[in-house]
Amino acid sequence: MKAYRASILRFAPDHSAIFEEDGLLVVGPDASGTRRVQAVGPYRTLGPKYPGLPVEHLPGRILAPGFVDMHIHYPQTDIIGSPADGLLPWLENYTFPAEKQFSAPAHAEEVARFFVAELLRNGVTTALAFATSHPASVNALFAEAQKNHMRLITGKVLQDRNSPDGVRDDTEQSLLDTEALIQRWHGVDRLGYAITPRFAPTSTPAQLRGAGALAAQYPEVWVQSHVAENLGEIAWAKELFPDARSYLGVYADFGLLRPRAVYAHCIHFDDADRALMRDTGTVAAISPTSNLFLGSGFFDYEGADRIGFGYGLASDVGGGTSFSPFHTMRAAYYVGREGQTKPGLSLSPQNLWWQHTAGAAKALGLDGVVGNLAVGCEADFLVLNPQATPLLARKAARAQSLDELLFGLIILADDRAVERTVISQAK
Ligand code: GUN
Ligand code: ZN
Repeated sequence: MKAYRASILRFAPDHSAIFEEDGLLVVGPDASGTRRVQAVGPYRTLGPKYPGLPVEHLPGRILAPGFVDMHIHYPQTDIIGSPADGLLPWLENYTFPAEKQFSAPAHAEEVARFFVAELLRNGVTTALAFATSHPASVNALFAEAQKNHMRLITGKVLQDRNSPDGVRDDTEQSLLDTEALIQRWHGVDRLGYAITPRFAPTSTPAQLRGAGALAAQYPEVWVQSHVAENLGEIAWAKELFPDARSYLGVYADFGLLRPRAVYAHCIHFDDADRALMRDTGTVAAISPTSNLFLGSGFFDYEGADRIGFGYGLASDVGGGTSFSPFHTMRAAYYVGREGQTKPGLSLSPQNLWWQHTAGAAKALGLDGVVGNLAVGCEADFLVLNPQATPLLARKAARAQSLDELLFGLIILADDRAVERTVISQAK
């Protein structure tokens, strides 16, 4: 067992933040060796209960839950910041050429190494990631995450049509590969598998039907895809699936909406789509830097909350522009300002932070497992330095409330504020 003394940020079940100015976080291994939060609270009252326990004192620092990134593409690491007129030309001109290269295991392994290191350096300790259509790309990322004891969920992309040579897969083989990868990796250490149809326009009905059958056969496995991101994409989906009620309805028709199904974007929805999300337990991975960069639109927070479906934040690198959860929370604030309602929302800093930690964990079905520093959670946490830059230090010194402190970090911080990322399994 070991304890850390510093300020501590965590979240209550009602999504509000709990902040100990001078707190103590006690972590220790469970029977399987995973380090979990054993106790958390004020140093003054908790300290005396643990006489003789080694305490690392980190004055001026904040211990915070590791961030949870609900949607990111590891093969797009090298195409961040590639400009295009919008989603479809961006896929054709940058994404597919970059993803073709992942047929070479050595390339996949090199990018996976950089990617996992970059996530951890930015304070992301759990991620749901796309690989490519090549099974070797999945093996490379799982192996690297396993080496770093990181909680990571990924899967082989399914795309058997409207995709160029080199990334297009074969319907039958793609489903065999998916099942073999589930059996090899799902539930191994901290790894999880996600059945990953890229999006409806690049899969045949047969491939989506097969993916839905696997989703029913393996209910504990995740499902991830994209939906209602861009108007051109939506028109294309309508052309290919004219009988579906909506773009989201395509996935419903193939059994791909269920708990642990995570759809990136979910921008251009109507209330029937929102109700379908809610009623099936499907959740949204809101990807604000990507939506601003590709000009896709603005996630409607008011609509999501009014109908009541789950969501959390995601970087969507490389459509997204940063690995930093601070950049993503900042962009989510801008998106809330735009909103669909008049006047736009001013999302609170506590809510933005929740969306990228406990809220994202809850949306992934990992409530009480990661994304918080409540007793029993896996001890993935960050040591944040709110004085990491001269401007951050000025801002932190003037903060009159928790909201002001957190908002200063959301607006001004980046990887420089993440002094240390602690993973719940000793290396
Ligand atoms: N839709 C289908 N594929 C992709 C992708 O790689 N990125 C984004 N942002 N949208 C997609
Ligand atoms: Zn994406």
